[in-house]
Amino acid sequence: MKASLSLWLLLLPALALAGSQEKPSPIGKKIDNFKLRDYRGAERSLQDFSDHKIVVVAFLGTECPLAKLYGPRLAQLAKEFGSKGVAFVGIDANEQDAPSAIGAYAKATGLDIPILKDPNNKVADQFGAVRTPEVFLLDADRVVRYWGRIDDQYGIGFLRPKVTERDLAVALEEVLAGKTVSKPVTQAPGCFIGRVKPEAKNGEITYSKHIAPLLQAHCAECHHPGEIGPFSLTSYEETIGWTDTIAEVIRDHRMPPWHADPHYGKFANDPHLTEADRKLILDWIENGAPQGDPKDLPKPVEYVQGWRIPKPDLVLSIPRVFQVPATGDVPYEFIVVDPGFTEDKWVKAAEVVPGNRSVVHHVLVFIQPPGTGGHDKYGGFAANWLAGNVPGARPMILPDGMAKRVPAGSRLLFQIHYTTNGRPQTDQTRIGLVFADPKTIKKEVSAEMAANPRIRIPANAANHLEEADNVIEQDSLLLTMTPHTHLRGKTFKYVAYYSDGKQEILLDVPHYDFNWQNTYVLAEPKLLPAGTRIHVEAHYDNSKSNPSNPNPDTVVRWGDQTWEEMLIGYFDLIPVDQDLQKEPLPVSKYVHKEGPALDAKLKELAQHALESDEAFAAFAKAVNKALPQVDRVCVTDYSGGQLKVERANYCGSVKSEFALAGFQHDGRVMALGHFALIGGFQSLPDLKKARGGDMMMISKFLGSSAHVPIVIEGGKPGTINFWSKEPKAFPKETNDLLNAIAEAVVSRK
Ligand code: HEC
Repeated sequence: MKASLSLWLLLLPALALAGSQEKPSPIGKKIDNFKLRDYRGAERSLQDFSDHKIVVVAFLGTECPLAKLYGPRLAQLAKEFGSKGVAFVGIDANEQDAPSAIGAYAKATGLDIPILKDPNNKVADQFGAVRTPEVFLLDADRVVRYWGRIDDQYGIGFLRPKVTERDLAVALEEVLAGKTVSKPVTQAPGCFIGRVKPEAKNGEITYSKHIAPLLQAHCAECHHPGEIGPFSLTSYEETIGWTDTIAEVIRDHRMPPWHADPHYGKFANDPHLTEADRKLILDWIENGAPQGDPKDLPKPVEYVQGWRIPKPDLVLSIPRVFQVPATGDVPYEFIVVDPGFTEDKWVKAAEVVPGNRSVVHHVLVFIQPPGTGGHDKYGGFAANWLAGNVPGARPMILPDGMAKRVPAGSRLLFQIHYTTNGRPQTDQTRIGLVFADPKTIKKEVSAEMAANPRIRIPANAANHLEEADNVIEQDSLLLTMTPHTHLRGKTFKYVAYYSDGKQEILLDVPHYDFNWQNTYVLAEPKLLPAGTRIHVEAHYDNSKSNPSNPNPDTVVRWGDQTWEEMLIGYFDLIPVDQDLQKEPLPVSKYVHKEGPALDAKLKELAQHALESDEAFAAFAKAVNKALPQVDRVCVTDYSGGQLKVERANYCGSVKSEFALAGFQHDGRVMALGHFALIGGFQSLPDLKKARGGDMMMISKFLGSSAHVPIVIEGGKPGTINFWSKEPKAFPKETNDLLNAIAEAVVSRK
């Protein structure tokens, strides 16, 4: 086992070399005229472009993830260089791509150039093309002058935040200027062209008998229509064009995606192939991938359309259709949905379904119990995890007798990471919940975490360690582990330190990958006696050799956004001794009320509060009259990385000059900057325990606070903040009044 892991490490550099070395270089070769039909059936030839100085020929595939990502980029280049006498032509030589699929690809990517179907890959052979996407630049004599990738932004397993090498564009500029191409060959990452192979009728290992069952068990769960795999692997016809790429992903251990070191822990959702099965698939492909006798095929799996959980009792969508721009980084969206629960709900299954998988990278849904934004210890976020949708994860389906509890009055906070794909898109993500009858529940599953919000990753550090701990308070059974860091995360490990001095590695992820945030579901729940310390540690690569790194020259601290970092080891636990049927939890109820009518005078003052410091002082005084525990009111907003106090007033018994109007600070280390972004009601009963530079300073003279999200003129996210010298001064009975005051402050127009 050890040998196989180090073999894997050795294979990684080999993967990076694939590409240009796969075929003799075609640079300097003249391309003879060829004739092919486009996807509409019209015949086109290379000669048709004889009035163009340059022809760029791009080999494409309709289902290859990188060919899809690069479609919009090619469209952009075709537009940019079209007026300079450059023609762009696409060729699809994949056996598996029908003309109708090519048409759909052109439409989805906005690639408005001739795309020709190359049956039997004859033209691909003439060029010596290997992968998709792969481009050839032909000069006026139709001699190949550049061969390889389009640019360096997207590769296997990474998306760079920006293009750093515009290889094709540079080659075009050089040829147009009559110069030699400075870098004529680059490696094109992507899928192998699905070439037509001589039919292999014989062979011991056949698709029907040996391979179909393996693909069914290890691949088709993701590779079937409507799922996250980019193509289906449920029949011979769907599989045959992909065999070269399948051989590569299996050889390199890229598929099925699974990142845990097999030495530690046994996991129920581990899809990985045994060495023998890997060899079987590789040998089958090596022998020409014969089909065999269809009578040997396993029974097909019936995939459920839509939900993978049992029929949900409740489906909640984010309230508005989200508009995803064509390009650029989209900061995480935080969207609060109120399900209107008037009593506790027990959730035994949950599934998050993105409205548009092409732009939803991941979704995490958190529970916000009434009167809180979540968890005190970390300033009210990232805790109380309910469910998520991340690439490769399965929906939550808990064993009988177990459920997660959503307290009455809770709201659900959706954290959504959108990625852009070159075309404007829309999304409306949903969550489906299946409830359990509380009478059937024996144990409450609690979502715990070991997290360290004080991480600090130095600029350019290539292997920086950060750690966090959480001590288990009662004898518990561990069910799952979900490591979480962002783009700089490199390794992740969970270790249990038992009270008797023994220690044990529970999970080791030697190559953490932000793109595949798996939940590792233990095959057997693990006993963690009271006093066990769960220790998590992660290494981060903040150097420039990490291609996903948004900026190696900056010190990175805790934050929700992908360019910031996190260290969270989530884990789900159940208490060993709990039996809710014998000792039920007290039932909580929550009454949803219409907001209280605001006193007319207070409402009037609130509506003018932001106009001047005097108006704000009068407003704060009226707030203190309605709620005598309030000692300070302020309005803060967050923009351009800065947290700013717009207005502030000390209206109670505490008097201070601290953080008055105009005060500004780096908002990323401030809880208030965070609250403005997440947009949910936050209540901090004890400021001494709250996270954030602002809370640390203000807790010297104030005890508790409540924060209501508002949007300030110009669309800046902000909060109106109520502070008291007393701890726990804002019980949930005050929420409605605070919300009504905040509404009046911004409802003037
Ligand atoms: C957990 C879901 C999942 C499973 C299981 C899975 N795949 Fe994939 N596969 C994906 C996704 C998602 C992608 C697209 C990755 C991307 O967009 O870069 C992919 C891409 C691929 C590709 C294209 C090459 C590439 O890297 O883009 C091949 C080939 C492939 N899978 C084969 C397989 C095979 C063979 C198996 C089983 C042995 C398998 N996959 C199991 C989700 C899965």
